[in-house]
Amino acid sequence: MTLRANWSYPTAVKFGAGRIAELAEQCQAIGLKKPLLVTDKALASLPITLAALDQLEAAGLGRACFSQVDPNPNETNMEAGIAAYKAGGHDGVICFGGGSALDLGKMIALMHDQTMSVWDLEDIGDWWTRADASKIAPIVAVPTTAGTGSEVGRAGVLTNSVTHKKKIIFHPKLLPAVTICDPELTVGMPKFITAGTGMDALAHCLEAYCSPFYHPMSQGIALEGMRLVFENLPKVYANPNDLEARAHMMAAAAMGAVAFQKGLGAIHSLSHPVGAVYNTHHGTTNAVVMPMVLDFNRATIEEKIIRAAAYLGIEGDFDGFRSKIMELRSTLAIPENLSAMGVEAARLDELTGMALEDPSCGGNPVEMTRENTRALFEACL
Ligand SMILES: [Fe+2]
Repeated sequence: MTLRANWSYPTAVKFGAGRIAELAEQCQAIGLKKPLLVTDKALASLPITLAALDQLEAAGLGRACFSQVDPNPNETNMEAGIAAYKAGGHDGVICFGGGSALDLGKMIALMHDQTMSVWDLEDIGDWWTRADASKIAPIVAVPTTAGTGSEVGRAGVLTNSVTHKKKIIFHPKLLPAVTICDPELTVGMPKFITAGTGMDALAHCLEAYCSPFYHPMSQGIALEGMRLVFENLPKVYANPNDLEARAHMMAAAAMGAVAFQKGLGAIHSLSHPVGAVYNTHHGTTNAVVMPMVLDFNRATIEEKIIRAAAYLGIEGDFDGFRSKIMELRSTLAIPENLSAMGVEAARLDELTGMALEDPSCGGNPVEMTRENTRALFEACL
C-alpha cells in the first residue's frame, strides 16, 4: 500500500482587507508583551510599517524594528537580528514583509537561544529534532507581498554567505502562531515585485501539482491556486489598486505554500542557485525557467497538465497551457531567459552541481541528473 503520508495543515489565518488593525490584539492573544518587528530595509520607512509600529506602541507593546535584511538574507543578517532581539529583551517576532523578511524573522525566532549552528537545522530527515523547541520564540506573520507563502509555512530559506548556497531551514515550530493576510498591504508593491512574487505563487502551485508524491488535498489546493493566479495576476499588474484581485492573489500565495508540502521541483532547484549566485529575484527567476521546465517534464506530466487545462478553461491541452504561461510572462514583462538576467554559460557546471544538491530537485517528476540538468540550464539561457 503506497497511500501513506504525513500531512499538516497550516496556522490560524486572519484574512481580509483592513485586518492589520488587529495586529496588536493578535500579539496580545498569544501572550506577547515585547515583540520585535522584523522587516526589510525598503519597507522600514513606509507608511504601512510605521502604522503597524504606531499600533504596537499604542497598545503598550513597544515599537522595536529590525530591518537589516538583504533580498536573499544570510546568516550575518540573522546574527545581527539575534543581537537586536537579545538586546531588546524581546519575547516574540513579528515577521512583516515579503519572503526575505518573513524568512529572516523566522530564523531569528528559531535561533536566538540555540546552541547549534543554523546549518545543522537544514531540512534533511529529522535534523529539526536537534533544536531545543522550548527556545523557539512565537511568530506572528504579516505578508506584504503575495507569493512566498512563508506566512503559512514551517520553513525559511537562508543563504550561506560563504558558499552562496541557499538552504531550507525547517522546524515545525516555525509555523506562525497567527498570520494576518491583509491584501491592502500589497497595494503599494512595485510592479516587478507584484509580477515576480505572483509568479512564485504560480510556481509553487504548478510544481506541487506536478510532483509525484501522494497528497490529494494539496493537489486540489494547487489547482485552485493556479486558477486564482491566472485570473488575478494580470488584473493586479494592470491595476495595482484592485483590492479584490489582490485578495485572491494573497490567498493563492498561501495556497501555493500549503500545496508545496507535496513537493517542489526543477523550477525551484534551478532558481535557488541562480538567486544565490546572481542575487536575482526568486519569483522572477522561477517565471523565467518555468516553460523550459514544463518541456523537460512533459512526458511525465502531460496527462496531469491536460486535466489542469480542462479545469482552468485553457484550450489546447499541454501546448495551450504552455502558451498561457508564455502569454502571462509577456504580460508581466518577465525576462525572456536566464542570459537576460545575467547568467553566464561559463558557470553552468557550478549551477548544475548546486541545483542537484537543492532539496527541491527530489520532487521533480523526472529524475534530475547532471547531464539533463545541465541541458535544461542551457535551454534556459
Ligand atoms: Fe518559491
